[in-house]
Amino acid sequence: MTNAELIAEAKKARLHAYTPYSHFQVGAALETKAGKIYHGCNIENAAYGPTNCAERTAFFKAVYEGEREFTRIAIVGGPEGQEANATCAPCGVCRQVMREFCTPDSFEIVLDDGKGGELVYTLEQLLPESFGPEDLGK
Ligand code: THU
Repeated sequence: MTNAELIAEAKKARLHAYTPYSHFQVGAALETKAGKIYHGCNIENAAYGPTNCAERTAFFKAVYEGEREFTRIAIVGGPEGQEANATCAPCGVCRQVMREFCTPDSFEIVLDDGKGGELVYTLEQLLPESFGPEDLGK
């Protein structure tokens, strides 16, 4: 699957977002090493804090299903009711969740630039000098 195709999957996921508070809708498409795609959307909450980002929804669905190895995630976000037209980068909490299950120098984060193109970063680029499982001997 190309990065553009993975972004198209993230756009489909974005349609499932539950965003009565921010009205900012995000979709994610997470690829496993075996090539399976897990979709995620942001799910907000009246107490705000329990809100789950699209990226974490995708990871938690996949991990529940037994997946542990991932290659890429595509992310698309923007205001409700319109096509995403700017880059939506993952928040710090989601970057740390990626760190738990992904290899920093090879896992790729693919961002829709909102103009028909894409930006691609490794997890290492977006979360340098990170703390991860190895720091606890795992
Ligand atoms: N959000 C995500 O789902 N992923 C991101 O990468 C950035 C932010 C969500 C959380 C909240 O529902 C809304 O976007 C506004 O912050």
